[in-house]
Amino acid sequence: MLEATGLMVFYENMLALNNVSIRCEENRIIGVFGANSAGKSTLMYTLSGIMEDIKKKEEMAGGERITVSGKIQFKGIDITKLKPSERARRGLILCPERRRIFKESSVLENLKIGGYLATPAQSRETMDYVFKLFPALVKLKKRVGGFLSGGEQQMLAIGRALMAQPALLLLDEPQSAHASDPDPRHEGHRSRETDFYPCDRTVRAARAPHCGLRLHSGKRGSGHGGDAAGAVE
Ligand SMILES: Nc1ncnc2c1ncn2[C@@H]1O[C@H](COP(=O)(O)OP(=O)(O)OP(=O)(O)O)[C@@H](O)[C@H]1O
Ligand SMILES: [Mg+2]
Repeated sequence: MLEATGLMVFYENMLALNNVSIRCEENRIIGVFGANSAGKSTLMYTLSGIMEDIKKKEEMAGGERITVSGKIQFKGIDITKLKPSERARRGLILCPERRRIFKESSVLENLKIGGYLATPAQSRETMDYVFKLFPALVKLKKRVGGFLSGGEQQMLAIGRALMAQPALLLLDEPQSAHASDPDPRHEGHRSRETDFYPCDRTVRAARAPHCGLRLHSGKRGSGHGGDAAGAVE
């Protein structure tokens, strides 16, 4: 489903991703592990295309020059040059770290915004699914995002990402959503999409992936719990 090869990212002269290749098949969860500053978020931004926006912003602000190289294929198509919105339209969705929800909008509004690519019927169906997955959000529907707890905001951020009907969901530091475990009766969420789990500290999250990849200063290290490098199977 996703195959990235030879990803390199320089922030000015600092090499943040050093020749990282990764493959993720359908219905698989890949964990990306690594210490702070290992390059996990850089990898997520590069795969989702957000790096292109960050690059442009830095250029406009006269800041550091960001250089990206490598190739990314998604569902058999070369998406390396596609904008993040075009990647999202194809089902590659990022739930970024630090829960970038709309803090002045309600839970319901946040979810609706997440479903902007879906039809109204799909949107309703997915919203039901999100509320089953995170029942704690049901009674918070009308509350503004900024007044949710950290874990509740994380649930909302994941819920909003799910509303976009991802074929592959990139989750950057999802661990604080632990406050409310997804309802085990809805295990279906595993087979619905392939999750791509970047997580570093949480034992529980570390158990979830089918296999993992460890980043060490932007370089691929040994694998975790199976085949290295996310080359699943
Ligand atoms: N826009 C930027 N400009 C310059 N350097 C950056 C930029 N973004 C990240 N870096 C640097 O790149 C390296 C990798 O950062 P990244 O955010 O990918 O790490 P991470 O593995 O996600 O870390 P954490 O666990 O702390 O979230 C770090 O040294 C960071 O300081
Ligand atoms: Mg990070």
